[in-house]
Amino acid sequence: MNATVAKSSLLGIRPLTPKLGAAIADVKLADGMSDELFRAIYAAFLRYQVLLFPPQDVPPASQVGFARRFGEVQIHVMNQYHADGFPELYRLSNLDANGNPTGLHPDKGTLAWHTDGSWQRVTGQATIIYGEVMPEVGGETHFCDMYGAYERLSPAWKARIADMRAVHNLDFSRTRRHGEDPMTEEQKKAKPPVDHPIVRTHPETGRKCVYLGDHAEYIVGMPYDEGRALIEELNALIVHPDLTYEHRWTAGELLLWDNRCVMHRATAYDPATQKRVIRRCTVLGEVPA
Ligand SMILES: [Fe+2]
Repeated sequence: MNATVAKSSLLGIRPLTPKLGAAIADVKLADGMSDELFRAIYAAFLRYQVLLFPPQDVPPASQVGFARRFGEVQIHVMNQYHADGFPELYRLSNLDANGNPTGLHPDKGTLAWHTDGSWQRVTGQATIIYGEVMPEVGGETHFCDMYGAYERLSPAWKARIADMRAVHNLDFSRTRRHGEDPMTEEQKKAKPPVDHPIVRTHPETGRKCVYLGDHAEYIVGMPYDEGRALIEELNALIVHPDLTYEHRWTAGELLLWDNRCVMHRATAYDPATQKRVIRRCTVLGEVPA
């Protein structure tokens, strides 16, 4: 048996689509894990881009402990979402203190295709979401492969964006586009807009991918409106149904993905009648290049 097969059988891997995503059968995250098991998970993370763990109890400390195996875990600037005494965890919930739906969606920005942490200089590597309570209808999470998106661009598009940089701005995507509570002056000062290449090379696989999404506001060196139009056009162009995995949640599942080479979004649900609570954290990666 070669090493790859051995690693796969260790995890009980089942691909979710022909292009990206895999379900892991045999890992209990609350038990901690050996270095060998983590290496197998990390190899699968690089290979499949999105990993799904089956329903299980993952206490907050286990989630943070798992995230720390990947690297430094982000302390999110939007500190009103911090959860369970762990500033690394961020809870999105539409429930009130009595567990009843409030009718309010906790973060409408998640409904647009994006990549986590693209609004900071050191961007997101893995995001890890645990589904505490899941709606019966809607509230799915969708993923799209950005390696494939780059490969499918025409030569003209590839040439056009080869050296282009986009400015990503959380205040733009969150406040102006989606009408969320405004960021405080302190939060804005902590996370000013930053520019990143639109075509980045994954630092571990060496493959090129498109790095854009909803936090991208304008293009460096281009008139604002022209840049906005280009971003909108490209954001639509890079999502392909056959490069997408659409996850319909069961409570207790955990999803892990690589923000460097996938975009994701949540789908809508009725926050007045359905309940949805997720607990997430994002591991910091590197400065995109
Ligand atoms: Fe996200």
